[in-house]
Amino acid sequence: MAVRNVAVIVGSLRKASFSRHCALALMKLAPEALKLGFVEIGDLALYNQDLDTDTRPEPWTRFRDAIRPCDGVLFVTPEYNRSVPGVLKNAIDVGSRPYGQSVWSKKPAAVVSTSPGALGGFGANQHLRQSFVFLDMPVLQQPEAYIGRASSLFTEDGEVTDDGSKRFLAGFMTTFAAWIEQVGG
Ligand code: FNR
Repeated sequence: MAVRNVAVIVGSLRKASFSRHCALALMKLAPEALKLGFVEIGDLALYNQDLDTDTRPEPWTRFRDAIRPCDGVLFVTPEYNRSVPGVLKNAIDVGSRPYGQSVWSKKPAAVVSTSPGALGGFGANQHLRQSFVFLDMPVLQQPEAYIGRASSLFTEDGEVTDDGSKRFLAGFMTTFAAWIEQVGG
């Protein structure tokens, strides 16, 4: 299997983010065929079409240039008010423009939602998928990954504290790698 480059986007800016810990765990558990790297979203100005000119904010260009060459995108996000955190939605909006030049188009994706609670960020997970339809991103359907109790499931350096969850997350990444092979360009 060829090596595939995958951008990892975390929907939380918090230093001690459980979602980031989960993303680290997924990166450690991924098969060798995937080369994963974080693409940060915290410096992206709120999308404003008036600014999307030749003098657009540099972080928008940096972000678009980082996503464009990737073979896939892994989204790991908490849920805010039963939906996608604004910072992540903003990053998606920035990547989707200028019209006709979206960096997301046809890019295989996977989504993992997290929560300290029991529901595992179901609302954020599903709302992300709604955007992926319009963005024409083939998103991994199964397994779905709603990671509840995330506050106690990961260490800050990405170890998984529960064997069953570790197996599930490793299997998720193996399936994602196969998905990229199946639907990627
Ligand atoms: C939350 N939180 C939350 N949790 C949840 O399961 N469903 C929700 O709808 C919300 N809504 C929500 C809104 C806002 C504005 C905040 C700040 C938080 C709690 C959230 O899951 C918790 O803060 C996590 O720790 C956030 O994820 P990270 O930062 O640890 O990755």
